[in-house]
Amino acid sequence: HKVLVLHGPNLNLLGQREPAIYGSETLADIDQRLRNKALELSLQVESFQSNSEGELLDALHRGMREGIAGCIFNPGAYTHYSIALRDAVAAVPFPVIEVHLSNIYTREPFRSHSVIAPVAKGQISGFGAVGYELALYALHAQLG
Ligand code: DQA
Repeated sequence: HKVLVLHGPNLNLLGQREPAIYGSETLADIDQRLRNKALELSLQVESFQSNSEGELLDALHRGMREGIAGCIFNPGAYTHYSIALRDAVAAVPFPVIEVHLSNIYTREPFRSHSVIAPVAKGQISGFGAVGYELALYALHAQLG
């Protein structure tokens, strides 16, 4: 089974970006951790980061064409307002798990609303980098 790990805007800055909120691990660290976990679970992961909404849409569409088993998606700030990404998540046949490093419900009020959540399989928010691993376990359990 192939799982797509999609990282949205500004997540390329992880490690340097507001470490008190997002932690000191880099995106490369997170992707490496996921590859290790995936090996244990006999899953294949492919990671992709983009700051552009269109490229994230294209990655979801590509996943659909390739028949991937699921997607772990941190849409970054697009979480809060991208109807286009929400529509793509609703359109794809595979489960999408929404992940946030920070707990979006304890921060500024505008972060408490996710337009992605109603069409995601589930959401993991507030556990830092570990959240991605939890999402991988969740997908693994879904796939049976
Ligand atoms: C985030 C939370 C979003 O509100 C923010 O815009 C991000 C990161 C998180 O992982 O906690 O860029 O998705």
